Amino acid sequence: MSLAIETKQLVKTYSGRKGKEITVVNGIDLQVEPGEIFGFLGPNGAGKTTTIKILLGIIYQTSGEASVLGREAGDIEAHKELSYLPEKPYYYEHMTGLEIMRFYADLFGIKDEELCKRLLNRVNLSTDMNRPISQYSKGMQQRVGLAQSLLNDPKLLFLDEPTGGLDPIAHIEIRDLILQFRDEGKTVFISSHELSDVERICDRVAIINKGEIVKQGRLDDLLAGGRVEITAGSVKQELADRFRTGDTVVSMKDDRVIIDIDEEAGPNEVISAIVGAGGVINSVIPRRIRLEDLFLESVAMDNQAKGRVMGRMTEKKAPAEETASN
Ligand SMILES: Nc1ncnc2c1ncn2[C@@H]1O[C@H](COP(=O)(O)OP(=O)(O)OP(=O)(O)O)[C@@H](O)[C@H]1O
Ligand SMILES: [Mg+2]
Repeated sequence: MSLAIETKQLVKTYSGRKGKEITVVNGIDLQVEPGEIFGFLGPNGAGKTTTIKILLGIIYQTSGEASVLGREAGDIEAHKELSYLPEKPYYYEHMTGLEIMRFYADLFGIKDEELCKRLLNRVNLSTDMNRPISQYSKGMQQRVGLAQSLLNDPKLLFLDEPTGGLDPIAHIEIRDLILQFRDEGKTVFISSHELSDVERICDRVAIINKGEIVKQGRLDDLLAGGRVEITAGSVKQELADRFRTGDTVVSMKDDRVIIDIDEEAGPNEVISAIVGAGGVINSVIPRRIRLEDLFLESVAMDNQAKGRVMGRMTEKKAPAEETASN
């Protein structure tokens, strides 16, 4: 099966002041598999919306290739099977939620009032569908946007900042809807600054910085810490000391021990040795890197912010390191 989205060496330049060219997307290669939720992350101005607009055929690339659902970006046939929720959706404020749905349905040539109502119901707006948009909160407007984006039963959805500025309950509602889209076999491409949302729902991500992809892959692989934390009780000091080899960190309090060990260094042997000596294993937790840390490391490398951000991260780590060496 072909990829849902693919770009090869995609470049977009604008002419800036005094005719100087500004490259805002600089040779990006993206691969999005069908049926996955793909997160597109990056700081403000990194090139996310520009890339989405190229994929939708709203603007043209300067060079490189972009394909969507196996067709060239902008292809009319592909358009029938995709939808787009812009980062700043604009609605005629005097229209009601239902009128907006009818308006967009008309654009797709769909004359199905029941479908409009069903979709509004799906995003929890059935009781508000006859109120004008001017009376909708931001979260309600975002939900109309999602309902509208489902009108053509798309195979591929582009959601640019779908949860930006929403309260925690609205976040959860929209996250759940996006997970349902995946369950229905749809591909979802999300640009977002909400790293906790991305961490919860995305299968794969790409991080873009200054127009270049700096990380791309399965979230589980990118966040795999490569280390395991074993917590055990009823462990004798002599046994705990035996585990202090290489970069394994052992911290002991009374007969409770926490062992932080590299996956490759054999956590199973440690567990067997503890159990064999009459100890009790309380937990074995594979340690994951936080997406926030991965993001900061990926995008802060050449910024002045690096010093500040990394300084903060080191400060945060200090107490844990202190405990571990006790
Ligand atoms: N029409 C344009 N002419 C010139 N420069 C533009 C134009 N549109 C966007 N840019 C520039 O392209 C860069 C990338 O913008 P883009 O909107 O793609 O960023 P983004 O990653 O979506 O950011 P945000 O997270 O703030 O939404 C920015 O520096 C922006 O100023
Ligand atoms: Mg944007």
